[in-house]
Amino acid sequence: MPTTTCACGGKAAAKDVKDNIFLPKEAKIVRVEKTTEMERIFTLRLADESQMKFEPGQILEVGLMGYGEIPLGLASSPTREKTFDIVVRSVGRVSQALNRLQQGDTLLVRGPWGKGFPLENLRGHDLLIIAGGIGLCPTRSLIQYALDRRKEFKRFILFYGARDPQQQLFLADLADWRKSQDVEYHETVDRGDPTWKGNVGVITSLFSKTKIDPGTRVVICGPPIMFKFVIRELEKLGVARANIYLDLERRMKCGVGKCGHCQINDKYVCTDGPVFAFSEIEHLEEAI
Ligand code: FES
Repeated sequence: MPTTTCACGGKAAAKDVKDNIFLPKEAKIVRVEKTTEMERIFTLRLADESQMKFEPGQILEVGLMGYGEIPLGLASSPTREKTFDIVVRSVGRVSQALNRLQQGDTLLVRGPWGKGFPLENLRGHDLLIIAGGIGLCPTRSLIQYALDRRKEFKRFILFYGARDPQQQLFLADLADWRKSQDVEYHETVDRGDPTWKGNVGVITSLFSKTKIDPGTRVVICGPPIMFKFVIRELEKLGVARANIYLDLERRMKCGVGKCGHCQINDKYVCTDGPVFAFSEIEHLEEAI
């Protein structure tokens, strides 16, 4: 951003522009992959070649001129290259327009925003990540992080549930995790098909597949209906509410605490979250 030192305050004005939270940056699409009928994975690089600095669990506003923007969880770890991933599900005008973009096209990003996963409380403990449906997208940033920094965690367990085999995301990752020694990966689908040889049932059916220590730190992201049932299982196992983290990526618009769209009682999901300890929000009626 050019600056000027003229007496009229141009330098300050240029700084204001640079710090403007509503000003997006251009990002180039390095790779695009159709992962299901509805979702595409975009690998992006900032057009100015700078590094996107973020923490696992943070959010980006992703937009297209003339269409608007949508909040999306970063779906890759900051430990990986100069690129970053997002997943766009075609559910509205903006997301459908984004999903028409091709490799080499550009889009706009603002952020990263919000508080991500509390790495300081996860490190040094068993880590269980429970992802349902597109909840795998934001948690993938933490999964990659934990795999890249594997020694920082004790046991690493991953539960993933999808509606059916066709809805599974990140197929190459799933294939890696199935054979990885670094993560104890368990998966299920609500409805199988003739090709599916794995577990069929809701995500809580995976608790019978392994033993979870009460001191385990747990991260959950998925449809709201899943939270209640998963938390019930965790409480039976003696996991403390303060060690259960929920990713409440929803209802967000501006992403920066200005529009009130994401408000749950006195909390703003975009600035106080999107990741909350269950003990922090259990008293909020609308939270889960
Ligand atoms: S999304 Fe606007 S205040 Fe949170």
